[in-house]
Amino acid sequence: MRTTVKYAGDQEEIRQISYIEKARKHVEALEEKLGRKPACCVTTFGCQMNARDSEKLTGILEQAGYVLTEEENADFVIFNTCTVRDNANQRVYGRLGHLNSLKKKNPHMKIALCGCMMQEKTVIEKIQKSYGFVDLIFGTHNIYKFAELLVQMFESDQMVIDIWEDTDQIVENLPIQRKYPFKSGINIMFGCNNFCSYCIVPYVRGRERSRNPEDIIREIRKLAEEGVVEVMLLGQNVNSYGKNLEKPMSFAQLLGEVEKIQGIKRIRFMTSHPKDLSDELIQVMKESKKICRHLHLPLQSGSTRILQAMNRRYTKEQYLALAEKIRKEIPDIAITTDIIVGFPGEEPGDVDETIDVVKKVQYDNAFTFIYSKRTGTPAAAMENQVPQEIVKEGFDRLLKVVQDTARQRVSLLEGQVQEALVEEVNEQEEGLVTGRLSNNTIVHFPGDAGLIGEIVPVYLEKCQGFYYIGKRWEP
Ligand code: SAH
Ligand code: SF4
Ligand code: F3S
Repeated sequence: MRTTVKYAGDQEEIRQISYIEKARKHVEALEEKLGRKPACCVTTFGCQMNARDSEKLTGILEQAGYVLTEEENADFVIFNTCTVRDNANQRVYGRLGHLNSLKKKNPHMKIALCGCMMQEKTVIEKIQKSYGFVDLIFGTHNIYKFAELLVQMFESDQMVIDIWEDTDQIVENLPIQRKYPFKSGINIMFGCNNFCSYCIVPYVRGRERSRNPEDIIREIRKLAEEGVVEVMLLGQNVNSYGKNLEKPMSFAQLLGEVEKIQGIKRIRFMTSHPKDLSDELIQVMKESKKICRHLHLPLQSGSTRILQAMNRRYTKEQYLALAEKIRKEIPDIAITTDIIVGFPGEEPGDVDETIDVVKKVQYDNAFTFIYSKRTGTPAAAMENQVPQEIVKEGFDRLLKVVQDTARQRVSLLEGQVQEALVEEVNEQEEGLVTGRLSNNTIVHFPGDAGLIGEIVPVYLEKCQGFYYIGKRWEP
């Protein structure tokens, strides 16, 4: 079945821009009362897509007249939440308790919650019951309405709640405030159709919707004009990009178009589902001068039996064959992954299988997670949940192998000269800057703030576990 995405189009954009003006009036009134510009603080709890949403919220808040701050003791605080694992939720509740005490001292303070966690009914009930001081709650599907919701919040003395179950709309062209001037994430698709049995994302982000390639290219061209050199194309499963567009297009074809954009020097993307990674993509990556030598290829488990229960739709052997093919075609690529330990029914022998894959693939980095039961997912209803002590034992065993292999892999570049994009001044050590190599490894080397955003050759002098100490290469 083909679903066509309805573009809300210019009309909705115009409506929202008029709400930004209205919100501005409220912010100006507050400014008068306070005798200074009101400050806002946007906190991101989740993944890169969540972070990109935060940039959209920040863009609107800035246009409405707020100044940005990292201080949580601000006049407007918004938590952009994540619910992929329970510890993300617990962090939100903990921080909300702190906000409550701040608000008691500053009664004019406004507090908003949005993001994936808000798509869960039980969460909303809990907030209504125990966190009545929250002023505004909205979800993942109506984030483009943020300006309108802000106005509603200012004009109401009760908690404003607006959650949609799903949407088929994509609203383009609203203001965005980027965190970094030289790199940016770009949504190429929203939602997910995969329904891995442990995962809540499809329930809180809705069905898969691809943006039109013209809109993506236009956005990246504009970013390049503004000085962005590195883009990260974002989607829960970028390999299925474009399948439900009116004029279908593959992800590899989209990459080919992005490659042509002048000024863009590096292209990254996240995340690739192994079941959909095509030979065409491997070839495009191999031939590209701009696509970074890094592939994040979530494994989740190395046991075919568990993979099947997870609904991942590949076997251990298929994954290994894919990784081998990628390594053969692109030998200098870094492969990273996500792994879950403690999925229902997992036994120590399954963890052994996972460890076997880690040893064979030789990941540059692997994010290991303890399985977290998400209400409403098929895995949550499985009866064979694994006791915590057993999970912990498997987790520690896996982590050790992951760290040993990553250390070995990362150190392979010692003594080489590689280009690094300088991202920031090193906070720990004065006189150093931090750069990122094409393969995503970090290098610290002498330099100053003037280098931020530049791509410079760096001699990788010494590997320190998972990163390098180097110096600028001047032949
Ligand atoms: N779309 C991406 C992943 C998004 S969530 C993909 O398919 O790879 C990021 C990671 O969180 C996942 O790769 C998975 O390893 C982990 N994760 C998701 N649900 C989880 C759960 N219920 N418990 C523990 N980890 C989970
Ligand atoms: Fe979750 Fe699977 Fe979709 Fe990734 S592909 S977001 S793990 S359901
Ligand atoms: Fe979390 Fe939502 Fe991302 S649940 S991982 S913020 S898509």
